[in-house]
Amino acid sequence: MSDIDEESDIDEVQHDAPAGRFITFEGGEGVGKSTQAGILANRLARAGHSVFTTREPGGSPLAEEIREALLTGRVSDMGPFAEAILFSVARQDHVDRSIRGALMEGAWVVCDRFMDSTRAYQGAAGGVPRPAINALERLTIGGVLPDLTVILDLPVEVGLARASERAGDAAPDRFEAQDVALHQRVRRAFLDIAEEEPHRCIVIDARQPEAVIAEDIWEAVEARLGP
Ligand code: TMP
Repeated sequence: MSDIDEESDIDEVQHDAPAGRFITFEGGEGVGKSTQAGILANRLARAGHSVFTTREPGGSPLAEEIREALLTGRVSDMGPFAEAILFSVARQDHVDRSIRGALMEGAWVVCDRFMDSTRAYQGAAGGVPRPAINALERLTIGGVLPDLTVILDLPVEVGLARASERAGDAAPDRFEAQDVALHQRVRRAFLDIAEEEPHRCIVIDARQPEAVIAEDIWEAVEARLGP
């Protein structure tokens, strides 16, 4: 790991500027990202936009296979750095095969989790140093940065309770099963990202009713990405 502890000098891969809009949803467990991503995608479609919804880890056939290995914990013994690399490999395939093309065609891409999840889960909670996370980001996303990132924020205990209610009898996945202190670090990391990059991120209180959250998100999209 120490070989890439230093800030990497590997240049970001450059591509043509995309024509569409890229919106990501982030947050801890049980905050309602998928629901809100779906509501926003429907509303954008009704407003006449071409919309492409996707998620991470996953979003392409190879990335879905990697998702399975990551969420079942099959690779957890290799540690958070290996997991960060695998999330990144999956992300690169997802960007190359789906996201970049959709953006070039002018679609509004709505993605449930993206690079900030690696910063929060493998970086802040898993202890992978920030320079390594930054290097992976630069190598894998090739300049395809979100135009807007919606961070849904919820006290950890509330989110975990919601996630376990939603899962019913199913066992928690590798990341849901982590202890509360790690989830607190994930929450803090998302809030820190929003503070560092206020032009890209908005934080929304996910304790509010679903319809109020959806309205807050729509207002932010109109204000920041509207005509
Ligand atoms: P989900 O709960 O949104 O389906 O996400 C699956 C899990 O994967 C979630 O617990 C967070 C975790 N994850 C990471 O640890 N790093 C990542 O880069 C991504 C995209 C997800």
